[in-house]
Amino acid sequence: MDSVLTYAVALSSVTIPFIILLLDPLRGIPGPLLARWTSLWMVYHSRKGDMHLVMIALHEKYGSIVRTGPNEVSISDPLAVKTIYGAGSKFRKSEWYSVWQGHRKFDLFAERDETVHRAQRRLVSNVYSMDTLKRFEPWVDKAIKNLLAKLSTLGTTSVDMGRWAQLFAFDVIGEVTFSKPFGFVDAGKDDGSFNQIDIALKSAAWIGQVPWLFWAHDRVSPLIGNWLGVGARHGSLRALAASETASRKSRGSDHRDMLEMLMDVHRQKPADMNENAVLSMATSNIFAGSDTTGISIAALLYFLCKHPRCKDTLMAEINGAIGEGAPEGVVPLSAALQLKYLQACIYEALRCHPAVGMSLPRVVPQGGLEFHGRFLPASTIVGTNPWVIHRDRNIFGHDAETFRPERWLDQDRSQMDRFFFAFGAGSRTCIGRNLSWIEISKLVPTLLLRFEIGLVDPESTPEEDCWWFVKQHGILIKLKSRS
Ligand code: HEM
Ligand SMILES: *[C@@H]1O[C@H](CO)[C@@H](O)[C@H](O)[C@H]1NC(C)=O
Repeated sequence: MDSVLTYAVALSSVTIPFIILLLDPLRGIPGPLLARWTSLWMVYHSRKGDMHLVMIALHEKYGSIVRTGPNEVSISDPLAVKTIYGAGSKFRKSEWYSVWQGHRKFDLFAERDETVHRAQRRLVSNVYSMDTLKRFEPWVDKAIKNLLAKLSTLGTTSVDMGRWAQLFAFDVIGEVTFSKPFGFVDAGKDDGSFNQIDIALKSAAWIGQVPWLFWAHDRVSPLIGNWLGVGARHGSLRALAASETASRKSRGSDHRDMLEMLMDVHRQKPADMNENAVLSMATSNIFAGSDTTGISIAALLYFLCKHPRCKDTLMAEINGAIGEGAPEGVVPLSAALQLKYLQACIYEALRCHPAVGMSLPRVVPQGGLEFHGRFLPASTIVGTNPWVIHRDRNIFGHDAETFRPERWLDQDRSQMDRFFFAFGAGSRTCIGRNLSWIEISKLVPTLLLRFEIGLVDPESTPEEDCWWFVKQHGILIKLKSRS
């Protein structure tokens, strides 16, 4: 049904009078012809799912500033990351995010008022801190053991690693949020939630480019019903979080899980954080914490298989440090964080394949933005794309196209750290960064100690599509038990 609406957009947005072009403040900025006239260009590629690659190609062709819409530009110069997203910047999130938020009052990811966001983030940031998360380590261990036991039963056949990684990440979210895994790894499948997330992502990616259409739909939806998939984030996924919350409350738990910590905030500050806000955070754990982590684990395993030399170096490091020490156990976080080559591999996988593949759009504040001799007036939408930033040769080296973990070890890495953009930047940096890092750091070496891994088809490259997240399809891996 989304496509009917696309035609409505097509009809209504190509009629820009010529006179406006002459007054157009962005007219000197190069880019695809269609994009200067209409948001349709952005809508088209957001729907098609190739934005991460298209933006790399466009910046190669047109240079560091590219016009992607009548009122939107993309910048490839990493310095712009500091200007746009840096601490204290006045660039607020664009209306693209409004379609995620809808009418909800508490939405950390989508909130566009920085003052409101700052207060909300302060309420919950402690729940996501490394110190808090370290206490959850036994539950992550439990989920890892469960996954490995399950994988053992699958034998040496071909295993869709992207899918298993997401099933695993979902179970971890259940463990740390509600003291209960969703049971997806045991079942070997999800409960339909993955599809709901995909539908919401695919829908929001494009309708966020024409937010007025979303809000028009919102106004008439009491009459015509819901025609947009983005509703799933507020609908079935929130319903899932609500039922898990309810059953967690009646069941009780001896763990102090995230839900309990969030409820404590609610009890202490009921006016700032009501029960809807607690539910909103639980929902966002489910929505933001599974795909992203699954994608990142799959990317790392894929790159290791594609680069056997790196896999061997990593194996040597793991064997040297952990050795036979943990055949039944799980690699402890404290040890994993000390494995320098492993950590370099994680950085490199997230550099080569950051989970988010679209520009993180922001609004130029009062006073405008002067960049590379161009002037962008206030209210222009501007952003940088992690896939573009991570391929900058000045920062990451002349071989930025290649997976080479050593770059994080053998050169001064301070610039690379500064412009590592997989988790965004500034006040809106990913709040779940440490949780995903714990999962990846522990699961990957534990898995490698247990199994010899390789691609079923070593020549293959997985298909991927970009609907906000760049998700791979069919990373088929064969596992051979080492024992
Ligand atoms: C490797 C895994 C992950 C990646 C690559 C990732 C990436 C990102 C990025 C790029 C942003 C910034 C978006 C923007 O500026 O528009 C973000 C924000 C966010 N992420 Fe993650 N994420 C990951 C895991 C997680 C997990 C595990 C959770 C929750 C349990 C989570 C929850 C959030 C939330 C709530 C925000 C909004 C933060 C705010 O605006 O204050 N993410 N993430
Ligand atoms: C934990 O998160 C903080 C803040 O985002 C970050 O600076 C730090 O590097 C993270 N630690 C690990 C081990 O990823």
